[in-house]
Amino acid sequence: MSGFSAEWLRLREPADAAARSPALTARLIAWRRRHDALSVLDLGSGTGSNFRCLARVLGGKQRWRLLDHDPALLARAGEALRQWAVRRGMTATDEGDETLILEDDANHYRLERLCLDLNEDWARLAAAPNPRLITASALIDLVSADWLARLARRCRQWRAALLIVLSYDGSIAWEPAMEDDERVREWINRHQCTDKGFGSALGPDAAPTLADLLERLDYRVDLRPSPWLLAAQDAALQTALLDGWTEAARHIAPGPNIWLDDWSRHRRDLIERGHSRLSVGHWDLFASLE
Ligand SMILES: C[S@@+](CC[C@H](N)C(=O)[O-])C[C@H]1O[C@@H](n2cnc3c(N)ncnc32)[C@H](O)[C@@H]1O
Repeated sequence: MSGFSAEWLRLREPADAAARSPALTARLIAWRRRHDALSVLDLGSGTGSNFRCLARVLGGKQRWRLLDHDPALLARAGEALRQWAVRRGMTATDEGDETLILEDDANHYRLERLCLDLNEDWARLAAAPNPRLITASALIDLVSADWLARLARRCRQWRAALLIVLSYDGSIAWEPAMEDDERVREWINRHQCTDKGFGSALGPDAAPTLADLLERLDYRVDLRPSPWLLAAQDAALQTALLDGWTEAARHIAPGPNIWLDDWSRHRRDLIERGHSRLSVGHWDLFASLE
């Protein structure tokens, strides 16, 4: 689970889709009914999982800007979205290098891929047409308090709604439990708050912090749990998490880390034998001014 490889994003996408809060999806659909053509800005889009999850739910005419700083992930998004559309009987047409049009009788999606650094390039976004909906999935636990405050102010200027999903909430529960689970979780949560390119990250505090910022700006905010509930058949995702977390803990826990290696080995053994279940807490947030 090092960085954000396309393989890691592919592995987590089904678990993310299953975890999303149905109550917030219902609120999003009700909000959508009040808008005709919809313009969406997806922050940290990776290969486009947010679009794949939401496009059918939102339906109709949509313009999406998929924004990420990783050109390889954006290139993969182009291929993955084309395949996604063709599997659903839609036509897919390129318009220049960065724009893809997907359509069928009932839906028209215009997808623009933007390679931008969210830490530096907000000015370039200001020049674009204002989005009505800002989305992000598995992003805001990486950012700082200052960055979130800038995001909240910018959304308020645009009068945009926000759907910000799958922000880690700090909770991890393994079954069966082991003695060092809590010790590892504490190191993971410390690692969550290290700098991920935006200054000190908020980690598990990000979603409640954003909710508070938006309420102060007169938004109506809904914050709901969206945990991953992983069973024996999710062994690949459990293993990727175990590897990533072990690495994160090793990175910052003072050595020697024999206890950590033992813990990791036992956990891997349980996963391989089909005896491991894991839940990881997240928050989903929807906010609008209407
Ligand atoms: C955990 S991934 C989530 C990707 C996608 N939203 C999903 O749910 O599959 C975080 C994404 O944020 C992007 N990202 C991280 N820092 C960024 C920055 N400074 N500017 C733009 N994108 C960034 C990464 O490249 C990655 O695609």
